[in-house]
Amino acid sequence: MTELKVSCDTSTFEVPAVLDASGTLTNDCVRQAVAMMDTHGLVILTDCLSHAEAEAGLELMRQIIDDPDRSRSAFASETDNHYLRRDFCSLPSSPDVMRFAARLGQRLEGVLSEYCGRSRSVLEIATFTSYFGSSHQYIHRDPSGVISLFAAVEDVSDEQGGTVFVPGTHMYGGAANRHAGSAYQLMELFRIATNVRVLRHNLKKLWQMRKAPAAPLGPGEFRDRVFSTKWDQHQPNLLRFFLGKNAQFSLAMLGPRTLWKLYRNRQTMRDLFGLIQTAPRKGTVILYRSDLLHAGPDNRSRQPRRFFGMSIARDIIETKYWHDGYSPHPTLAAQPLCFGDLLDMPVRGAPARPLIHRTGALVD
Ligand SMILES: [Fe+2]
Repeated sequence: MTELKVSCDTSTFEVPAVLDASGTLTNDCVRQAVAMMDTHGLVILTDCLSHAEAEAGLELMRQIIDDPDRSRSAFASETDNHYLRRDFCSLPSSPDVMRFAARLGQRLEGVLSEYCGRSRSVLEIATFTSYFGSSHQYIHRDPSGVISLFAAVEDVSDEQGGTVFVPGTHMYGGAANRHAGSAYQLMELFRIATNVRVLRHNLKKLWQMRKAPAAPLGPGEFRDRVFSTKWDQHQPNLLRFFLGKNAQFSLAMLGPRTLWKLYRNRQTMRDLFGLIQTAPRKGTVILYRSDLLHAGPDNRSRQPRRFFGMSIARDIIETKYWHDGYSPHPTLAAQPLCFGDLLDMPVRGAPARPLIHRTGALVD
């Protein structure tokens, strides 16, 4: 996004996936990944899926997206979904989907089990596709107490819009005491300052799209994205912004005291926080703590951007809270799964990639 300083260098947050003979992360790799999650709130595991595994995931997603009766997700941005700017849909608990989800769960068991017990619910298994013209989400936190993952089943470029994160903004016991007790306040100020730019970016792009023959807006799309009364937290909706009806970002968040604090703390925020945008290569898996500040950016290319996603609870969870923040497929809602179910599914015997030492040398 041009108005924002976003670094595309994610090397600080990457851990190369190293698998043992059974296809799970080695203990050393798990230790590094957990340390990364605890320090920064996310870890980017490169080469976590083989080429063939990523291809299988992509094929699975294609089949589901091509199904006219697929189950659309009721979150993120329904307006984008409606105007085919995004296609977020939950995946059914079919044998193929379960096999893919179980393979990921088992491969990442060492990391996931640091946070999620075996009895914890699988909240959602979904595909996240975005197309040219989608909105840049506001910087937000997902419902707390969840570990989420995105698996790149094909290369994702900066332009396609890999997820944006603000490392180090996750919440945990005592985290608020950092920065002389003002850590959470500074994070919130940073979020507001960033979302001002997100709103501006989205409006500017929509305005340009009005007359862009290459990516015309659909009938009524401009009105629905800017002036609609419909609930949608990730559109540049000025009506809901001025009325204070958007919980993610509204004029009500820009009172005189906040504006003063934004001005006074501008340098501190610059020193403490920074946006990174992921551009994962095929086979990369990103794990993040749900309360880490993040956003799904807009797709600025003609190539669709696709991710496979899954979220697992870290604690018991009220059904309403679950369904407000995540979109389980009706088959998953009817027959809930827990993390232990994924671990017990028979996919471990599948051929694993050759074990690779950190030096890059192949071993038997
Ligand atoms: Fe989110």
